[in-house]
Amino acid sequence: MSSSRAEALFAPLERLLEGASHPLEVRESGRVSYVGNGIVRVEGLPRVASEELVQLSGDSLGLAFTLEESETCLVLLDDAASIVTGTPAMRTGRVLDVPVGHALLGRVVDAVGRPLDGGRSLEALGRRPVEGPAPPIISRAPVTVPLHTGVKAVDALVPIGRGQRELLLGDRSTGKTALALSTILNQAHSGVVCVYCAVGQRDSAVAGVIEELRATGALAYTVVVVARSEDPAGCQFVAPYAATSIGEFFMREGRDVLVVYDDLTCHARAYRELCLLLRRPPGRDAFPGDIFYIHSRLLERATHLSREEGGGSLSALPIVVTEAEDITAYLPTNLISITDGQIVLSSTLFQRGLLPAVDVTRSVSRVGGDAQLPAYRAVTGDLRLVYAQYQELEAFSRFDTRLSPQTRKALEHGRRVREVLRQDDRELLDVSSQIAVLLAATTGLFDELPLERVADGERRIRAVLRARCEKLCHRIEAGAPLDDVMRADLLASARAALGEQDVS
Ligand SMILES: Nc1ncnc2c1ncn2[C@@H]1O[C@H](COP(=O)(O)OP(=O)(O)OP(=O)(O)O)[C@@H](O)[C@H]1O
Ligand SMILES: [Mg+2]
Repeated sequence: MSSSRAEALFAPLERLLEGASHPLEVRESGRVSYVGNGIVRVEGLPRVASEELVQLSGDSLGLAFTLEESETCLVLLDDAASIVTGTPAMRTGRVLDVPVGHALLGRVVDAVGRPLDGGRSLEALGRRPVEGPAPPIISRAPVTVPLHTGVKAVDALVPIGRGQRELLLGDRSTGKTALALSTILNQAHSGVVCVYCAVGQRDSAVAGVIEELRATGALAYTVVVVARSEDPAGCQFVAPYAATSIGEFFMREGRDVLVVYDDLTCHARAYRELCLLLRRPPGRDAFPGDIFYIHSRLLERATHLSREEGGGSLSALPIVVTEAEDITAYLPTNLISITDGQIVLSSTLFQRGLLPAVDVTRSVSRVGGDAQLPAYRAVTGDLRLVYAQYQELEAFSRFDTRLSPQTRKALEHGRRVREVLRQDDRELLDVSSQIAVLLAATTGLFDELPLERVADGERRIRAVLRARCEKLCHRIEAGAPLDDVMRADLLASARAALGEQDVS
């Protein structure tokens, strides 16, 4: 055909296409060749990218996980009921993202950001990819501001800073969720935005947490991300990354954010399930070889940003379940090495009613000490030592009933310090109350009281402090160091409260 004839033929067609209201779009599509439990294999998507979203029948979405020469393995993010062999699969050219924004506060959403609370649609919000790079070293700043949990044992002995990653580990039912929830509830006046991410938890436990957040008003500054245990393993796998992206939005605005991952054991199991279904080679405990990487790439996103980057922070409280208090199992050791410290909850202490069951000897905070308020640091300096010595003495005293008066005195002192560290999970304390009570305990003001009256004495100290030392409390909270005058003031009010001496 001569070129002039071809032109005459194509020119009207080209004009037609230029004028079309919907520009034409080329889409790659394939077909499902195998449907498994939470995964599908698709043939005919030669140019699909890793982690790209693929649309299956209707609104069902799959995530490209393993790319092979002739097949692509997708992880399903929806129920697979309508997917059969031969179902068309279409590339979307997008990666998985979630809605982010202020409108999410107070909402309960699933792993891909769909509302679960029957509230308004979140379609209109901006979106952020679920996976994102961790901030580079140059954008990070040291952790300097404390994140108070309101729990004496933690704030005093394993203090957490904003931007820190602190692992919470313990056997089943040792108060892990309760401690994380207390930390969220204690942020009511701190301006910290919270994200609670439940992965593979019992529905009743998650409903309990949401109810508690709602009843206390904490839901107003919290976003809840839920991947239930009966959701596809893919949803459970992406939920923590989605929760982090939601938190990162607030961090990038210069806010302080706390993300609780409850729990990463279920997350790792969901990933193991997917990898075994995808026939990836299993390693230790049948976990895939990159299990360390999936958790480090999640937790490395927690940081304190430098002033040039807005100064926001994202603190992470991942929870992991241990068996028979073994913190040297595969997942716990991985996570201990990724995080900046760990709070170990002991089932032995829990059974003895010593709540919160924080095992002080095995818990550590590697960066939080620098962020602790100066007044607090002055009080807790000896506390850890006194407590560790007491634990040793207590074990030793079981064998020998003839104790020297000094040992007996040290034991009684230690017993009272431990009694003071006991706390109900809904009784959260501000920093100055904690300092006053711990100062009284380490100075030995409780030593003359019978053990069962220590809790009452502690309450009286707090009441007197509120009534008489408002200015002092403000100074402590503003970061003033504890000088001799302040120390004497605090002790005088404590003595007055315990009825030893009238300071009127
Ligand atoms: N400091 C505390 N004071 C009183 N009760 C507490 C305290 N800490 C935890 N509990 C109670 O202990 C029980 C178990 O706590 P929780 O559900 O937080 O444990 P868990 O470790 O998260 O359990 P699971 O492993 O099943 O998730 C709850 O009934 C909770 O109210
Ligand atoms: Mg729990």
